[in-house]
Amino acid sequence: MTHPGYDVDRIRWHFPALREGAAHFDGPGGSQVPDTVATAVVETLTSAISNRGTVTPAERRADRIVVEAREAMADLLAMDPRGIVFGRSATELTFHLARTLSKDWGPGDEVVVSRLDHDANIRPWVLAAEAVGATVRWADFDPATGELPPEAFAAVVTDRTRLVAVTAASNLIGTRPDLPAIAEIAHAAGALVWVDGVHATAHVLTDVPESGADFWVCSPYKFLGPHLGVLAASPELLESLHPDKLLPSSDAVPERYELGTLPYELLAGTTAAVDFLADLALTDPSLPRRERLVASFAALEEHEDGLLATLEQRLRAIPGLTAYSNAKHRTPTLLVTVEGRDPQELRAALAERGVNAPAGHFYAWDCSHHLGLGATGGLRMGLAPYTNADDIDRLATGLEEICGGER
Ligand SMILES: Cc1ncc(COP(=O)(O)O)c(C=O)c1O
Repeated sequence: MTHPGYDVDRIRWHFPALREGAAHFDGPGGSQVPDTVATAVVETLTSAISNRGTVTPAERRADRIVVEAREAMADLLAMDPRGIVFGRSATELTFHLARTLSKDWGPGDEVVVSRLDHDANIRPWVLAAEAVGATVRWADFDPATGELPPEAFAAVVTDRTRLVAVTAASNLIGTRPDLPAIAEIAHAAGALVWVDGVHATAHVLTDVPESGADFWVCSPYKFLGPHLGVLAASPELLESLHPDKLLPSSDAVPERYELGTLPYELLAGTTAAVDFLADLALTDPSLPRRERLVASFAALEEHEDGLLATLEQRLRAIPGLTAYSNAKHRTPTLLVTVEGRDPQELRAALAERGVNAPAGHFYAWDCSHHLGLGATGGLRMGLAPYTNADDIDRLATGLEEICGGER
């Protein structure tokens, strides 16, 4: 049953892109954007704006936009706004911080990465470790179940481990590892925990302190916002580190980590995206935004889980179909292959029916290889806040027809 406050028709009405008619299952690559986000971007670009400051209205506007965006992301992640860093993308922020953190690593030190992860949470650590002669250790998931249990980390974390990098959810198969248990293992060994929250933040309520993460990265364009990246950490931790920066640029936290001028229009769009998420399930508008986010994510999970159950039931009945998304806790993101069919061929046949579901490895390079799917990967279908029952039916019917399955 759908949550009473969750009206998918009302939500869809806010997405001009949906009027083009496609059923979008490409959300894990980047969601569609509500009108309120687009308006915030346009209004920023068409208002007087200059660099942050206190003298002119244009300076004050830029400053207000930055402050508001930090507050919005802090609400979304249950963090302190002083620990919110904006950057070009999650990938760029991870490379930036990998360079920063590895300044005091050396031979004998170890970093742990997982084969479940997107390459954005593997390669920056591998390259940083290589550059300083540190060792990389791998935590493996079980390809049959899709599970990445804490024991996989316990097996490779040692007292030499400096950092454990792990995803909050796989963008390929949806698995959500038990972050608090993994963080406990890492912290007991004195290691920091870096969590890639890019895929998870779009689907489940994020509480960074509760997850045990020391660092959390995410990307607003995956949760109805514009294309940029966000890093969250405690201000105290950020104070203790010294990233490469220009000499005259601010040494304050979090500005110390932000290279160049911030994209004010995208920050305004990010605030609008968080506000939109907070009102997915209409609650009392006078409640604090974090409380509305908590209620909205509960409703969103219910909405997405309900649709996912219907979709899975139909897909798993298709002859020759293998589903790789099998973990107990996972996001509504399915990866499948069909015997004798190239995933790209399936994708193209669905596209002819107005169903957008891409195929490939989606940069989860090691994950795809560990699943035995190599560089080909599979067909990926991701649900989003605007997905409705009609979308699900179009996708399932399309695949049934393409694969010759029966209803
Ligand atoms: C799980 C995951 N991590 C990282 C990334 C990279 O994010 P960005 O494009 O912000 O660098 C993606 C993008 O698809 C992703 O899905």
